[in-house]
Amino acid sequence: MLKILVCVSGGGTNLQAIIEKQAAGELGDTKIVRVISNNANAYALERARNAGIEGVCVSPKAYESREDFHKAFLSAIDEAAPDLIVLAGFLVVIPKEVIQKYRNRIINIHPSLIPAFCGTGYYGLKVHEAALERGVKVTGATVHFVDEGTDTGPIILQKAVYVCEGDTPQELQLRVMQEAEWEILPGAIRLIAEGKVQLG
Ligand code: GAR
Repeated sequence: MLKILVCVSGGGTNLQAIIEKQAAGELGDTKIVRVISNNANAYALERARNAGIEGVCVSPKAYESREDFHKAFLSAIDEAAPDLIVLAGFLVVIPKEVIQKYRNRIINIHPSLIPAFCGTGYYGLKVHEAALERGVKVTGATVHFVDEGTDTGPIILQKAVYVCEGDTPQELQLRVMQEAEWEILPGAIRLIAEGKVQLG
């Protein structure tokens, strides 16, 4: 069984998509063992509770130094002994210690077609604002492995989504979530659970 730990920061719609596909038996032999949020008020924690999944908050604000936060974050992960860490809208930079220890076992969902609109400063709504500003006609989402860079790890799945005339950033964000993110994030988990993802 593939033990999954999900890291969240906000609304948790991607977490919800994972929970629902898992409950529907579409994620193979998997279990969500813990949800970690850096934000105590994240609605994602409520979603975890409603699904009977343990949710914990590890906030940088609760620690005197970044180093102390990193230690606490790593312990919160280690305690759950996950096989796969899923960053589902987690807006904190992953500490090097965690990347090293869980190399090739951390995946992230990013709301654009990498390498467009990614890297430092591109997260959440900002990604869609930049896509509309540039006037692209197609955008989408990407699931990739996490390495030391920002959005630079090997790509697992991508899905394209059309931009519509007059889209606001919020409308585009919702369409990218509905048509791409909520499909490819669970899809990538399923592929990993089935042993179908190999790094060359
Ligand atoms: C999602 O759109 C996700 O792709 C994005 O944050 C949102 C979280 O929504 N992640 C990033 O921008 C990471 N760089 P959710 O909490 O409803 O799943």
